[in-house]
Amino acid sequence: DEVAIFPGSSTGVWRYHATVHKGDRARIVEMPRSYLGPIIKVNQGEKIRIRFNNAIPEVSIVHWHGLHVPAIMDGHPRYVIPQGQSYLYEFEVKNRAGTYWYHPHPHGRTGPQVYGGLAGLFLVSDAEEQAVGLPDGEYDVPLVIQDRTFEQDNQLVYLSGNRMERMTGFLGDMIMTNGMPDFTLPVSTGAYRLRLLNGSNSRIYKLAWEDGRPLTVIGTDGGLLEKAVQRRYVFLSPGERLEIWADFSDNPVGYKTSLVSLPFETGGMDGGRMGHGMMMGGRMGQNLLLPNGAAFSVFGVNVTQPVQTTYRLPDKLSEIGPARPRDAVNYQNPRRFYLTMRHMQWTINGRVFQMEEVADDEIVGLDTAEIWEFNNTGGGMMSMPHPIHLHGKQFRVIERAGVFHDGYVDEGWKDTVLLMPGERARVLVNFSDYPGMFLYHCHNLEHEDMGMMRNYYVK
Ligand code: C2O
Ligand code: CU
Ligand code: CU
Repeated sequence: DEVAIFPGSSTGVWRYHATVHKGDRARIVEMPRSYLGPIIKVNQGEKIRIRFNNAIPEVSIVHWHGLHVPAIMDGHPRYVIPQGQSYLYEFEVKNRAGTYWYHPHPHGRTGPQVYGGLAGLFLVSDAEEQAVGLPDGEYDVPLVIQDRTFEQDNQLVYLSGNRMERMTGFLGDMIMTNGMPDFTLPVSTGAYRLRLLNGSNSRIYKLAWEDGRPLTVIGTDGGLLEKAVQRRYVFLSPGERLEIWADFSDNPVGYKTSLVSLPFETGGMDGGRMGHGMMMGGRMGQNLLLPNGAAFSVFGVNVTQPVQTTYRLPDKLSEIGPARPRDAVNYQNPRRFYLTMRHMQWTINGRVFQMEEVADDEIVGLDTAEIWEFNNTGGGMMSMPHPIHLHGKQFRVIERAGVFHDGYVDEGWKDTVLLMPGERARVLVNFSDYPGMFLYHCHNLEHEDMGMMRNYYVK
């Protein structure tokens, strides 16, 4: 497909297209001027039927990131289909209201396919959310953040194939929002619900408002928090979502600000300033123009007109309740996962992905709650941030030990948890409803493609 990302020229991309048949009750919102797929809107409890027709010249399959669905509906790479074939998805949406998304999941090709344009939002609403009365319509804004590199002729450039580049992951030198470079959001003097998705392959954002106001976070991967929390900055790693309350009612028309990514040290080898300046010296194939941890503007905000009515931030957003680690069957002895490099290969507990393989310590009981501990402390200089994602389940982060205490929002439901080098986190997961084989993996898509992914089996 061709998209006019830059005026007067067209860029070759891959794109999800939706055809809605007569009589369907589907609610589809196209992303204008973008390679991104349409936004799929559903209510909790609805049954959806989506037929995926693969029209690209390689195998693919669609994964519903964050959704709680049966194993055969989850887009495991064992279900890939070649060009010309189709896969029928039918499931009931059980998730709470929230910002979920969909993207391809063929083993070894997820990075290039997402990079090529295959990704879209999947927004779930429910009665609880509707009762709160959050900003709606044009005040509810999806913002998909990604990075891309373009050649002279405005075509996308992916990795050269260099192994070191794949070790660090793809980093583009242009920041895109909703598929557009230099994106500016025109707003009124009112309050907004901004739904952020980091749809980048590898880049981590340390988000903050340029004008110094705190970030008011109202939701995470698995929907609304109980109440809003404020942070000076928040990390958003690949796969993660963040819902922000942004109120411009005290700003005059003509006011401009932006959402920025603050500089940070990744403490590792991915082009963050530390790895960069020290032993790697820029020889690792990382992006020298815009390394991970560089400072830049993500998108601008321009206050363009006054409004009469504006939304108020509710004291209470939803009912979540406390996480109960003592409900876990392994409360005394969490299941531990070490994120390490072996033989120039990222691994989880020393293993890499094998399509049908499940190790003894990767089998969990149906309808049991467990504590899983992810540990990114053993790497030294050969370490990197790893956003770890579980398929099919939302979890609670119950404990975190590390360096960036103030940069995470662990108050709500999550499906992806970022572990900076030197960090360790414990999550509480309930393996409810659906037996079968699911994935857990690093959501740095190049790490995932290299095999930093494993199956877990619910029995
Ligand atoms: Cu969005 Cu298996 O991931
Ligand atoms: Cu997923
Ligand atoms: Cu990783």
